[in-house]
Amino acid sequence: MCGIAGYCGYDPALPHVVEMLRRLEYRGYDSAGVAVVEPGRPLYIRKDAGKLGIVAEQCWPASEGTLGIGHTRWATHGKPTMENSHPHTDCTQNVAVCHNGIVENHGALRQRLMESGHVFRSETDTEVIPHLVEEGLAAGATFEEAVRSAVDQITGAHAIVAVDTRNPDEIIGVRIGHAGGLVVGYGDDAMYLASDLPALMGHAKSVVHLNDREMAVVSRKKTRFTTVDGLEVERKHQKVIGNACSPTNGKFPHYMLKEIMEQPQSLHNALRGRVDVKRQTVELEGFPFSQERVSQFKRVVLLGMGTSYHAAMAGRYMMESVARIPCQVENASEFRYMDPVVDSDTLIVAVTQSGETVDSLAALESLGAKGAPLIVICNVPGSEATRVADYTMSINAGPEIGVASTKTATGSMLCLYLLSIYLGQTRGTLPVSKRRLLLNEVMHLPNLVGQALQTSEHIREVARRFSLASNVLVMGRGISTPTALEGALKIKEISYIHAEGYAAGEMKHGPIALIDRHTITVAVALKDQMYQKMLGNVSEVRAREGKVVALATKGDDVLAHDATDVIEIPSVPYLLSPIVAAVPLQLLAYEVAVARGNPVDMPRNLAKTVTVE
Ligand code: M6R
Repeated sequence: MCGIAGYCGYDPALPHVVEMLRRLEYRGYDSAGVAVVEPGRPLYIRKDAGKLGIVAEQCWPASEGTLGIGHTRWATHGKPTMENSHPHTDCTQNVAVCHNGIVENHGALRQRLMESGHVFRSETDTEVIPHLVEEGLAAGATFEEAVRSAVDQITGAHAIVAVDTRNPDEIIGVRIGHAGGLVVGYGDDAMYLASDLPALMGHAKSVVHLNDREMAVVSRKKTRFTTVDGLEVERKHQKVIGNACSPTNGKFPHYMLKEIMEQPQSLHNALRGRVDVKRQTVELEGFPFSQERVSQFKRVVLLGMGTSYHAAMAGRYMMESVARIPCQVENASEFRYMDPVVDSDTLIVAVTQSGETVDSLAALESLGAKGAPLIVICNVPGSEATRVADYTMSINAGPEIGVASTKTATGSMLCLYLLSIYLGQTRGTLPVSKRRLLLNEVMHLPNLVGQALQTSEHIREVARRFSLASNVLVMGRGISTPTALEGALKIKEISYIHAEGYAAGEMKHGPIALIDRHTITVAVALKDQMYQKMLGNVSEVRAREGKVVALATKGDDVLAHDATDVIEIPSVPYLLSPIVAAVPLQLLAYEVAVARGNPVDMPRNLAKTVTVE
């Protein structure tokens, strides 16, 4: 994870670097630091543990230097402390490096460097890099050659920016593998480097995304691109479209609440332009596969991590029921190492709101190499996944700032629903009458989600009782199983209460042993084909004195009587129910986290984008 930034221009670099880091904080926020080259003076370096806003704005004095780099960290090696914060420097304090990724062979390199007299100040894997550059420079290499030689010696995936006070006009950026990317930005009289595009919006007019094993030597007047092996490469600029728009949380106390409340609109945005009401079809602009090609697909593999994996799980029910095509769901971090049986007739659909999740990217890349057609469902235009895929289905949710995925989760499921209809209509496996019904139903979705949001007052009360729990089980069945898993993930990530989601059919195979009068079970028990089974599970929990918070269909008198608390959602078609049912569980997790005084938008140990394995 981590965000890295660089600026090289004619203004003081520090405010530019800090501003870019602020926009990269979603990648990690346990420490922050900057290094500025001030010609003729020692390297300006400031860093500390804590969020950027606290460490930068309160303690960093101004600097006149016009070239600098910075970092916002998510710790992998070594606790969040000042010493472990980036930038890291060499023994002479001339070379500074910010890094995203893991130097897998850092142990052996550190040992060797220490034996040859290098003094280490941190516990990080990164610190070997400036010492390796120092070693190269001492052997007579140029800065560029020394960085190249350092990169040659490290293993793993990396994005690196480096500066050297003796080369005060250059920042060197390197990308190896999937470690969150690195973008070079061209502004008016200034050059930028950043982990991703949003950090450059409003500053860069055009950009170049570094490819795997590429290096950029950036100066005010000229930027050169080479491979890490030193071959010059021509890179075309891409125009940057759009402005810097830093969303605010407006009247809401947290971004997460704002983003939950935005869902009727974000779902409307995902639907817009995709349903042809007259022809009763789904239209996907720019879809690259012909009817003949789509008919050749023998199966679909849905991939994702975390919330996106849960969205993919719900997508499987949609895909099989609507498009009648065999579908499997895979955790990208496992699938990438499986050597799976995949060929050009296996359609891969990766769900990744950020488009930068390292496991999803690595899986996409290896499956693409097997000739599989690749679709991504993504919320960030221009992200790495969108550049790897044959087709991107945009979630259109607008920026999501809270670390917990909310509107992108429901938007991903809606995209999967629409994609299922599209594949079904193209393959001729979806009868017209059923298609009409599905499209008619989906047009009511934003409204149904709006109704589900009206439960927020009641959920606040339930959350007060809930906030003292130390163990929560969340169960569901059928298409509500992914809803249960996602509900548990939301609870654990922001409220820090241990929560386990499971398919209710598993209850007697283990989880029931946990139930006593202290356990809370959230039961997703909507009036669908699994309802009677869920009522049985609820009774079994109650018989063991467990408390039950039931997520029920409006007007359900049985659950009103049997459960300890009931949260109601409107009656909703089966395939759309995970989208509507997700909403009260998001609100519940949010209210519990608030009641416990947790930092909702930036929960501990997490980051919005997971760019390391
Ligand atoms: O950006 P992605 O959708 O690929 O992210 C995958 C997971 O890291 C993500 O869904 C994570 O689980 C959520 N932020 C949790 O709310």
